[in-house]
Amino acid sequence: MRAASPITSSRQQVVRAARSQLAIEARKVAVLGAAGGIGQPLSLLLKMNRMISQLALYDIANVAGVAADLSHCNTNTKVTAYTGPEELAEALKGADLVVIPAGVPRKPGMTRDDLFNINAGIVKGLCEAIAVNCPDAVINIISNPVNSTVPICAEVLKKAGAYKPRKVMGVTTLDVVRSNTFVAEANQLDTKEVDVPVIGGHAGETILPLLSQAKPKVEFTAEDAAAMTKKIQNAGTDVVNAKAGTGSATLSMAYAAARMAESVLLGLNGEKDIYECTYTESDVMPGFQYFASKVLLGPGGIEKFQPLPELSEFEQQGLVAMKELLTANIQAGVEFANKA
Ligand code: NAI
Repeated sequence: MRAASPITSSRQQVVRAARSQLAIEARKVAVLGAAGGIGQPLSLLLKMNRMISQLALYDIANVAGVAADLSHCNTNTKVTAYTGPEELAEALKGADLVVIPAGVPRKPGMTRDDLFNINAGIVKGLCEAIAVNCPDAVINIISNPVNSTVPICAEVLKKAGAYKPRKVMGVTTLDVVRSNTFVAEANQLDTKEVDVPVIGGHAGETILPLLSQAKPKVEFTAEDAAAMTKKIQNAGTDVVNAKAGTGSATLSMAYAAARMAESVLLGLNGEKDIYECTYTESDVMPGFQYFASKVLLGPGGIEKFQPLPELSEFEQQGLVAMKELLTANIQAGVEFANKA
């Protein structure tokens, strides 16, 4: 069982595709919000992905220059630019995967919920266009608050009769990437070998790393588990504070989103054993309509949900602690999408 690496070499990807006897398909990926802090490095990483034949970059401003710049990299991915709502349909048509980092990021002192008022409307509008122009695409939502923007996306698609629950995924990969890095560093392990599933949601105490399930197995005292969990939950805020008003995580987020996109595409191409954690509508955790957990990716998007493993006592307490916030976040998204 493994997750795809983001910067898997082109050679490795070719070998994988050949092994599964599937030619690398001509996949179109659209990035909405491509001129932003995440959008630009994410687009660069996607331009390096051999599975992507067309990269459609959409933003409300400044995207033509980003596309012109990227188009000079000598990889076979064709880059096209689309500016403003009148060009959105063209950006989306034929897309196999739509990645959404559009919206405002946090400033020091803000929670992800503080972004709701602006980003909820942005995500709603973009998902309405997806419903019309590429209803079969997999959607990876990065825009915060993910705990609410994923329900917004789902509700918008439901209303339009275009909802494919196995294809709407909130990107929580950065929480996994951070967990893997921090656990590896604390235990002198090779970062590439470490895998820590993260469940729940993507904000504060709803981010619940399952340290008891870390691979390779790592022993934590109760105190160390609590400290490591806090470090992972606060990692995004630490970046916001370090950037001192100029934004939130962009480079590590682009890295994480590129990994998630690569995994989705490998799954679509029929590659076996591609697992990622993602925040999506599911029955994995009774009482939560939307929940992040580990899933198997495949040709239909999410092929299978892994049942939750046996949790440590500390993790069980974490599940209880997140209940109120995650429920409120989900409710806010559902209500927003359905008003008016
Ligand atoms: P940014 O402000 O640098 O870039 C956002 C881009 O979205 C801008 O280029 C802007 O023009 C564009 N945009 C705004 N409205 C749009 C619309 N209606 N259609 C298309 N594009 C539109 O922000 P950054 O740093 O790239 O962050 C983007 C989002 O990602 C934020 O909501 C942030 O909170 C979130 N984020 C999520 C993480 C996660 O783990 N899921 C981690 C880090 C950030």
